[in-house]
Amino acid sequence: MHFTPFHFFAAVSVVFSGIGSTHPTTEVQAEPAKSMGFIGCSMAENIAQGYVAVNGQRMWGPYGTGGMVVQSWTNSNSASWKLFDQQVAKYGKPTAVWVQICIFTTGATYTEVKQLIANARQHAASNATIYITGQPLYDGGQTCQLAGPKGPEATDSLAQQAANDTAQTVIYPGAFRLKNGEVADGCHANTVGQSSLGKQAVAFWG
Ligand SMILES: *[C@@H]1O[C@H](CO)[C@@H](O)[C@H](O)[C@H]1NC(C)=O
Ligand SMILES: *[C@@H]1O[C@H](CO)[C@@H](O)[C@H](O)[C@H]1NC(C)=O
Repeated sequence: MHFTPFHFFAAVSVVFSGIGSTHPTTEVQAEPAKSMGFIGCSMAENIAQGYVAVNGQRMWGPYGTGGMVVQSWTNSNSASWKLFDQQVAKYGKPTAVWVQICIFTTGATYTEVKQLIANARQHAASNATIYITGQPLYDGGQTCQLAGPKGPEATDSLAQQAANDTAQTVIYPGAFRLKNGEVADGCHANTVGQSSLGKQAVAFWG
């Protein structure tokens, strides 16, 4: 397992919370399988496909989120959230949710992003950890045409803005990246790209 600074802090906190308990431990326990949900579009589905392919355990597998950009998730009662709640019915309330900011060329506002975070908290366990990222970024000169020129970068910037906003308490683990040989259609990952994205997700949150 790749230890990011966040994992390191998690390990330290486990050590301290273990003091005085009946079973102190110095090891980070793996998070329970399927205890982490996600929202996003086909690009999140791409990552979830790769995550399953590389045997990631914590996060749900793909559940049919194609086309579900930010505006699909701003209304907490939308068809997209109903789909999310079907996953919750299967696996229980997630203790972590990854919010992927995904856009068409019309973009998204920071106000909408904050609404997604609030909705994620509402549909998850009360103290759930919220991770936030944009769409994957591409090698120089490439973009996802569905998001438009600099669209993926705009989503990454919104994710960083949320992480920098102390009122949100969300974690930005970094940007997903796709290399030139990993893209199928100018936007989505091919099989190699999915596997690469899956490994990046495992490095981000286990
Ligand atoms: C979150 O809440 C659950 C259920 O209330 C509890 O078991 C768990 O210890 C809490 N986790 C944290 C990190 O506070
Ligand atoms: C967020 O904060 C980081 C670290 O200070 C900074 O590098 C980044 O530019 C900020 N991004 C935004 C969008 O505010």
